[in-house]
Amino acid sequence: MKVAELQAEVLRLKKEKDVCILAHSYVAREIAEVADFVGDSFQLSVKAKDCPQKTVILCGVRFMAETVKILSPEKKVILSAAEAGCPMAEQLDVEIVEQARKMFPGCAVVAYINTTAELKTVCDVCVTSSSAVKIVSNMPQDKILFIPDCNLGQYVKSQVPNKDIRYMQGGCPVHAAMTREEVLAAKAAHPNALFLVHPECVPEVVELADFVGSTAAIMNFAKASEAKEFIIGTENSIMEHLQYDCPGKMFYPLSKRLICMNMKLTTLGDVANILRDGRGGEEIVLSPEMIEKARRPIDAMLAFG
Ligand code: 13P
Ligand code: SF4
Repeated sequence: MKVAELQAEVLRLKKEKDVCILAHSYVAREIAEVADFVGDSFQLSVKAKDCPQKTVILCGVRFMAETVKILSPEKKVILSAAEAGCPMAEQLDVEIVEQARKMFPGCAVVAYINTTAELKTVCDVCVTSSSAVKIVSNMPQDKILFIPDCNLGQYVKSQVPNKDIRYMQGGCPVHAAMTREEVLAAKAAHPNALFLVHPECVPEVVELADFVGSTAAIMNFAKASEAKEFIIGTENSIMEHLQYDCPGKMFYPLSKRLICMNMKLTTLGDVANILRDGRGGEEIVLSPEMIEKARRPIDAMLAFG
């Protein structure tokens, strides 16, 4: 079946069955085109709360589907590809965080939303890349333990220097693999381009940026900018979306390696199968106790952010 035919079937079935499709911007373009909403992690969590449908298919990775379930426990939430995890989300466990909290008494534990539902149960507030600086600035506490992304943690510390922010070793293997040398080579190849970067990259890369922001912030900046050329320092799907949205501008990848394989595990065919007869994907099931505890830091994020 051709992509356009499959897309038409998905659009028809999701309407017939009253299903909401939420997609992170890193999934394939052909899925993004049939989704009810496409956005970054923060935008998805807000939409998850508000969408009227009783069933949600989350096209992205597991922690995102868990967040939808935590915010809307009455909904049936299906992760489009059961094996789509986020390696960063699985880097820390509850015991390590509890030990770290004891070593830094009086701290507030700030968790990047890229964490498991279980880990969220022992955290004080969640943040996303778009809300981290604002939330940490607005929190009453001055001692912050930031987990699990030390690169985002260091970026927040650079923006909120008056707080005592500590972090642990952890991060996104896709973004953290980018090097300063790659940035310098890309800038030399495209001297008129602005360099836009995600704060999950290492500080040596981030400090060379013309703009630092979440996936959505990078896209908004590129669309609004007077500039015509951009080097994109985040997952390469963003370049494709931007090229469609801004045909008169040029977008260059910082590296061809900037691809999150987990985000690419979902195919349009997977989404169609789930809608046709419930084949594939995985329904997210969390205990009421876990939902109650994991919800507190997410609600705190939505209140602060
Ligand atoms: P944002 O969606 O917050 O930009 O985060 C990027 C990411 O890596 C999601 O897993
Ligand atoms: Fe996780 Fe990085 Fe992939 Fe985002 S891009 S899902 S942080 S591995």
